[in-house]
Amino acid sequence: MYRIPFNRPAAMGHEQIYIAQAISSGHISGDGPFTQKCHGFLQEALGVPKALLTTSCTHALEMTALLLDIRSGDEVIVPDFTFVSSINAFVLRGAKPVFADVRPDTFNLDETRLASLITPRTKAIVPVHYGGVGCEMGPIMEIARRLGIAVVEDNAHGLFGKVDGKWLGTFGPLATLSFHETKNFQCGEGGALLINDPVYIERAEIIREKGTNRSLFFRGQIDKYTWVSIGSSYLPSDLLAAYLFAQFEARERIQSARRRLWKNYRSELTAWAGARDVRLPTIPDHCDHPHHLFYLLMPSLESRTALIDHLKARGIIAVFHYLPLHLSKMGLQFGGRVGDCPVAEDISDRLIRLPLYNSMTEAEQAEVIETIKEFPS
Ligand SMILES: Cc1ncc(COP(=O)(O)O)c(C=O)c1O
Repeated sequence: MYRIPFNRPAAMGHEQIYIAQAISSGHISGDGPFTQKCHGFLQEALGVPKALLTTSCTHALEMTALLLDIRSGDEVIVPDFTFVSSINAFVLRGAKPVFADVRPDTFNLDETRLASLITPRTKAIVPVHYGGVGCEMGPIMEIARRLGIAVVEDNAHGLFGKVDGKWLGTFGPLATLSFHETKNFQCGEGGALLINDPVYIERAEIIREKGTNRSLFFRGQIDKYTWVSIGSSYLPSDLLAAYLFAQFEARERIQSARRRLWKNYRSELTAWAGARDVRLPTIPDHCDHPHHLFYLLMPSLESRTALIDHLKARGIIAVFHYLPLHLSKMGLQFGGRVGDCPVAEDISDRLIRLPLYNSMTEAEQAEVIETIKEFPS
């Protein structure tokens, strides 16, 4: 065991009490009272017409592919520097992935390259708000609207982030969230679909309920429920929603803990980084971010490997992600070649993520910072 892990999931309030309540209420399947509370919380906090909890962000993305009726031959544009689910959800339905290189400052989809990637077969654009720092949604939405292409925001990292004063996840007709244990708000495994265009609400409820109109039945709008479309089982148990609702209630504590940790990393490491050609995260002025992750962009692959080893030898785990999608086994099968996305290829070799979790203590963080400063570079 390492003394300071990369991530340590933690209860932040009434998680145990609410799970006990869910057990004694007798409703532990999906869409129980805690799921409804979570839906209400997200809808009110973000002002979205509909939020639906899902079993993961991956599954929420799969729901968007079904809602957009993605089929074989359709193309979906995704940043090259992201988690596989951002595109796998669409490839599952037969889409061809189109990998866009990322901006060198935020590592978000480079909106200046978007127009050149669009073809008559482009069905969706999936901007990912890396680290909860917003993509340039103005130009992205403008291109999408002009050409009639759907936008699905993969906001796995960015609940309560904003760009130009507007909540992330409220720009495109559809957006997704993750509540995996590594995220700011967590329930182990979980996610949500945010629906900004009400035209998708009824079908989303059907797809999430195994292709049945069971939601209409429970609301008394029909007498019997039956199979009306393809779908799957995308709703989490109310036990998970009970855990998640306690996390939502602890919103201020969670956000202020992360803000303090993130800002502390930045102020303590700025001089060290400046003297070593190491880059810290760039946050554009028009972005408010939820302090989801803190990274160092090292000068080379060798220095990154050496720093990870240095920290590990002292009981601290730092990690890297993502490998460029176009050079993955799957990406190569879709025609990816070295040099297609130079920015993603470069940063993916040099990025390191530091431990950052809701319950991280000042002493733990001080030890990480001191150990980094001892790194012989
Ligand atoms: C950008 C992005 N999208 C999607 C996912 C998938 O999230 P989940 O684990 O909730 O399926 C992740 C996971 O970390 C992610 O980083």
